[in-house]
Amino acid sequence: MIQPMIEKSLWHPVADERTLGSSPMAVSVLEHPLVLWRDSSGSVHAWTDRCPHRGARLSMGQIAQDRLQCPYHGWQFDTRGQCRLIPASAELKPPAGYCASDHPVAVQHGLIWVQLQAQAEAEVPPFADESSGLRLLNCGPYDVASSAPRVVENFLDMAHFSFVHEGWLGALEHPEIEPYEVQETPRGLLATGCKAWQPRSNLHSTAAAQVEYTYEVTGPYSAFLSKLPEAGSTRLTDWREAIGLFVCPLTAESCRVWFRLAMADHESSDEALASFQHTIFCQDQPVLESQQPKRLPLDPRSELHTSADRLSSAYRRYLRRLNITFGVC
Ligand code: FES
Ligand SMILES: [Fe+2]
Repeated sequence: MIQPMIEKSLWHPVADERTLGSSPMAVSVLEHPLVLWRDSSGSVHAWTDRCPHRGARLSMGQIAQDRLQCPYHGWQFDTRGQCRLIPASAELKPPAGYCASDHPVAVQHGLIWVQLQAQAEAEVPPFADESSGLRLLNCGPYDVASSAPRVVENFLDMAHFSFVHEGWLGALEHPEIEPYEVQETPRGLLATGCKAWQPRSNLHSTAAAQVEYTYEVTGPYSAFLSKLPEAGSTRLTDWREAIGLFVCPLTAESCRVWFRLAMADHESSDEALASFQHTIFCQDQPVLESQQPKRLPLDPRSELHTSADRLSSAYRRYLRRLNITFGVC
């Protein structure tokens, strides 16, 4: 029996909510093209981007009176996906099976999320929300020529700080990674007691400092970290921050990446906060895209490991346990 692909029942981020205006938008996930559109009540719809009549791309069509009209022969579909008008056979009442194929949609963390296959128990990966009192801001998207799991693993990896982020998140004189703890959680993984010596750990750093990290893997393609620098090393008092990583697997070897920043900073501009994160990710991206193979190898014998890599090794075992097949090898 062919097993259904578990990835299809996960929630995937496909677009920044603010970028969906009054026109249909083409996006994709797991090599599956989707059209997003918004009706007059503000609700978002996500359908397979293929007209059931002759296969044209619905995202090339237009929205009128809460219907999406196909660009080819003008068939109109209502908010439930039901065809309501066939202009060339206007007297025909379209039968119930004349439908666009729709998918569950959620809006969370400022992003639009889609499930390709409905599964009620699946949840959008958690992250800090308004109740945290932190400033929330999205950064991205970044289109990355590597697999989603390689991007997640890079996010969890501390041993590259001294080299890729030298002078920022790491220093050449402090490359060593002290032992830290990794444990499984109902949702994924938790790593605690992770420490890094960082010359400039955030936008307001005034001195190099020891920074304590906590990492949580919240799904196969999502994670977040919280970091706390030593007292006195940051211009803002009570500084704390968390960074969420949400990755949309486009193909097995390419993905779209968003970061969600949650910061105890209500004074800096959005641009200043996003620009720090942008600088850091632009340091990561070329190395990430150079990694071969682009899919993450799950066989432990395929690459070499040390104790500093215990979180990434645990992440690979976690993907294996879940039977993830997309973006891995
Ligand atoms: S292909 Fe869409 S209306 Fe014909
Ligand atoms: Fe990095």
